[in-house]
Amino acid sequence: MSYFTQLLEGGYEAVHLLSDSRTGLKAIVGMHNTRLGPGLGGTRALSTYTSEEEAVADALRLARGMTYKAALAGLPHGGGKAVIMLPRGNFDRAKLFESFGRAVESLCGRYITTEDSGTSPDDMEHVRKHTKYVLGLKERSGDPSPVTAFGVARAMEATAKNIFGTADLKGLRVTVLGVGHVGMYLVKELHERGAKVWVSDINAASVEHAVKTYGATAVDSDTLHRMEADIFAPCALGGGLNDATLPLLKVKAVCGAANNQLLTMRHGEQLASRGILYVPDYAANAGGLINVAQEWAGYDREKAYARASNIFDTIDTLLRRAKESGQRPEQVADRMVEEKLAA
Ligand SMILES: NC(=O)c1ccc[n+]([C@@H]2O[C@H](COP(=O)([O-])OP(=O)(O)OC[C@H]3O[C@@H](n4cnc5c(N)ncnc54)[C@H](O)[C@@H]3O)[C@@H](O)[C@H]2O)c1
Repeated sequence: MSYFTQLLEGGYEAVHLLSDSRTGLKAIVGMHNTRLGPGLGGTRALSTYTSEEEAVADALRLARGMTYKAALAGLPHGGGKAVIMLPRGNFDRAKLFESFGRAVESLCGRYITTEDSGTSPDDMEHVRKHTKYVLGLKERSGDPSPVTAFGVARAMEATAKNIFGTADLKGLRVTVLGVGHVGMYLVKELHERGAKVWVSDINAASVEHAVKTYGATAVDSDTLHRMEADIFAPCALGGGLNDATLPLLKVKAVCGAANNQLLTMRHGEQLASRGILYVPDYAANAGGLINVAQEWAGYDREKAYARASNIFDTIDTLLRRAKESGQRPEQVADRMVEEKLAA
């Protein structure tokens, strides 16, 4: 498909190809919809893209996701996302990210960057040498994971209210797949709320930490998927709700931090047909974006948490609307965003 066809059909505003022959920089910035404010989204840096087309498609897909996440969270930001095709072999990483900083600056604030898969706070320190349009800096908002986890816990409370008539998570059975940055903080939030938690992760040390520190119970991934529980929280990779895992689930709801949990739309339909309530990932995991957006406004940790706490109301509204309309929660969430953008 031609680039213009992709942009027009997807409602995109622009795709920027940014390069620097001195450092080997090959970066793509996808801009989806900036009606609500400047595009805000992280930079993904990978050496595994097999073609420029694949990298552009990834930047565009991710930028669109950011429009939806920011709009539903009520943030004054639009959808933008950067992808860097890392050079193969040796390269000067500091110089590469400095040149990326110059490239971001050349967009004059239309796009604001931060970390994502494959980039770190250290990379952003190099970016910031040449642009003010960078967030998630070490001495400012820092690691977004605790705020993301807090937001997911608030989303679970709204889910519990919708299913059980009470937002109290005490005694609720929650299974958490992936206890990395966000998953571990989520286990902590759940422990503090008195939930019963089961965890699984390919990293044995993380599992041990969750067991020792927060009293979680360790199980293997297959057992976790098959367990009878109240809420399943995918906190590992995207695409975890698929043909292999979905038939195993015996939970009342899915609510977690991972991005793009549903492998396809069809898996959303299948969850609904099995009577499992799906809380849209981009609604539940917006805490990290809220945290960096607060940095742009002037970082204040209390304000970031207060705003992330509102994820409860967002989820409560969308689950109520889903019940009233007979639509699935992810369809209602998309419609809420589209109404906001149209207004
Ligand atoms: N960090 C944030 O603030 C944030 C914000 C929004 C969304 N997310 C999304 O949440 C998810 C987790 O992010 P993170 O920052 O915690 O990442 P992370 O890499 O720190 O944690 C992921 C964890 O999943 C585990 N894992 C990977 N594959 C697994 C498998 N097959 N089975 C079991 N465990 C497996 C890893 O060992 C790791 O502990 C990602 O999808 C990310 O995109 C993160």
